[in-house]
Amino acid sequence: MDPKSQKVKLNDGHFIPVLGFGTYAPPEAAKREALEITKFAIEVGFRHIDCAHVYQNEEQVGQAIRSKIADGTVKREDIFYTSKLWLTSLRPELVQPALEKSLKTLQLDYVDLYIIHIPVALKPGEELFPKDENGKLIFDSVDLCLTWEALEKCKDAGLAKSIGVSNFNHKQLEKILNKPGLKYKPVCNQVECHPYLNQSKLLDFCKSHDIILVAFGALGSQRVKEWVNLNHPVLLEDPVLSAIAQKHKQTPALVALRYQIQRGVVVLTKSFNKKRVKENMQVFDFELTPEDMKAIDGLNRNRRYYEFLPGVGHPEYPFSEEY
Ligand SMILES: NC(=O)c1ccc[n+]([C@@H]2O[C@H](COP(=O)([O-])OP(=O)(O)OC[C@H]3O[C@@H](n4cnc5c(N)ncnc54)[C@H](OP(=O)(O)O)[C@@H]3O)[C@@H](O)[C@H]2O)c1
Repeated sequence: MDPKSQKVKLNDGHFIPVLGFGTYAPPEAAKREALEITKFAIEVGFRHIDCAHVYQNEEQVGQAIRSKIADGTVKREDIFYTSKLWLTSLRPELVQPALEKSLKTLQLDYVDLYIIHIPVALKPGEELFPKDENGKLIFDSVDLCLTWEALEKCKDAGLAKSIGVSNFNHKQLEKILNKPGLKYKPVCNQVECHPYLNQSKLLDFCKSHDIILVAFGALGSQRVKEWVNLNHPVLLEDPVLSAIAQKHKQTPALVALRYQIQRGVVVLTKSFNKKRVKENMQVFDFELTPEDMKAIDGLNRNRRYYEFLPGVGHPEYPFSEEY
């Protein structure tokens, strides 16, 4: 089967490729390497590209997409591009200008998907992480339903084909779904998801509302010290994943990606290494057995790598809820 054709239908009728290329990298690499590696990812078959204003490399990623369109490798409609609304722009009047800024940086006319990055509003301004004199994040108070209405307007204006959320717990999703006058449901909730945090309850909730769960950190995260608790075990060294990988003559990384696709999750994978970018496309070349799936389900230990601890104390901090 042609891997490029593996897509699922979103609740608004658009299609999302089940495998996505993640572009977040620590600051030095983010800008320096993103152009070359994103072009390479498109060359080897990735059609879904996940980026965000806060990654500070939309210029390079946009350039990569445009260059692959210009050389005839793909057409714009072949690419599914996601951007994310940063936390300093959650006030409704700031939403469309933030998306327009991303589009200008990308030099694209529209994004395929625009999502609220984290439901924790921060003080508006140019600073991505506004802090007080004690180094604490300065929170803002915004009704997420109003942010959502502003996203709906971006869809109506044709600036985003689809709209969704990220890092929402089920109560926050419910709030949007129950909003009086809701025009569009979120098409997705992009959350951390891997065998140590398999999100089975959130996945069931999302499935019951026709919302796609998109997994990030599917390989156990990049273990960047600013974001991740480095005391947590390394996912790809897990003996059960390794044994299943050996049995299929694949790698633990491919098993972790395949696991998500077989349970109906759209999965992102970041690599800035050409050999591994290419390897990750092999996720379509094998299948896990029901016993393998069960064994991987058994690894869950609700271990979150990205806890976003600076957001603790905000009334919308999402990770205090069970799911
Ligand atoms: N919405 C959000 O809040 C949020 C948060 C985090 C991430 N994301 C998105 O999700 C994407 C992926 O998540 P992530 O960045 O946490 O990383 P990840 O996909 O869990 O990958 C973690 C690490 O695995 C390595 N890797 C990749 N392929 C491999 C392979 N085949 N074998 C062995 N190692 C491999 C990569 O290192 P190398 O580069 O050295 O290969 C990478 O640093 C991000 O880039 C971003 O687009 C979203």
